[in-house]
Amino acid sequence: MTGISKFVVVVSALAIGAGVAFAGDAVKERKELMKTVGKSTKLAAQMVKGQQPFDGGKAADAMMAIAAVPDKYITLFPEGTDMKSNPDTEASPKIWSDMDGFKKAVAQLKTDSTAAAEAAKQGEGAFKAAFGALVKNCKSCHQDYRIKKQ
Ligand code: HEC
Repeated sequence: MTGISKFVVVVSALAIGAGVAFAGDAVKERKELMKTVGKSTKLAAQMVKGQQPFDGGKAADAMMAIAAVPDKYITLFPEGTDMKSNPDTEASPKIWSDMDGFKKAVAQLKTDSTAAAEAAKQGEGAFKAAFGALVKNCKSCHQDYRIKKQ
C-alpha cells in the first residue's frame, strides 16, 4: 500500500467512526428531549386531574419546557438513525419516508405547547382545554412515527 492510499483508508475509517458516534448522540439526545416532554406532560396531567393543586405558573413553565424542544428535536434525525439501523431507538422508518409530515407534527407540538403555556396564565379552565389539545399531539405522532418496543 502506498503512503497516500494508507492515508485515505485511515481518514475514511475516522470519518465512519465519527458518523457512528454522531448518530448515537442524536438518538440519545432526542430520547432525552422526549423524556423532558414526558415529565412536563405528567406534571400538567396531575394538575388537570386534581392530583395536585393547579398552579398557573408551574403549568406555564411545564408547557414552555415542552415548547423549547421542537426546534432542537427536528435536527436530531440524521439518515441511518431509524430503528432498523439502531437498536436503541423507536423511531419509525416513516420519519424519513415522510419527513414533511414529521416536520409538521413537530411544529404542531410547538404551536400547541406555546398555546397551552398562554392558557395556563388565564386559569385552570383555559388550561384544561389547551392541554387536552396538546396531548392529542403525543398520541398521533407516536402512532404515525414511533414503533414501540415490547
Ligand atoms: C412530532 C412527533 C412526536 C410528538 C408530537 C411527540 N412525540 Fe414522543 N416520541 C416521538 C418519537 C419519534 C419517539 C421515539 C424516539 C426515539 O426512540 O428515538 C418518542 C418517544 C417518546 C418517549 C420515550 C422517550 C425515551 O425514553 O426513549 C416519551 C416519554 C414521549 N415520547 C412522550 C411524549 C409526550 C408526553 C408527548 C406529548 C406532549 C410526545 N411525546 C409528543 C415523537 C413524538
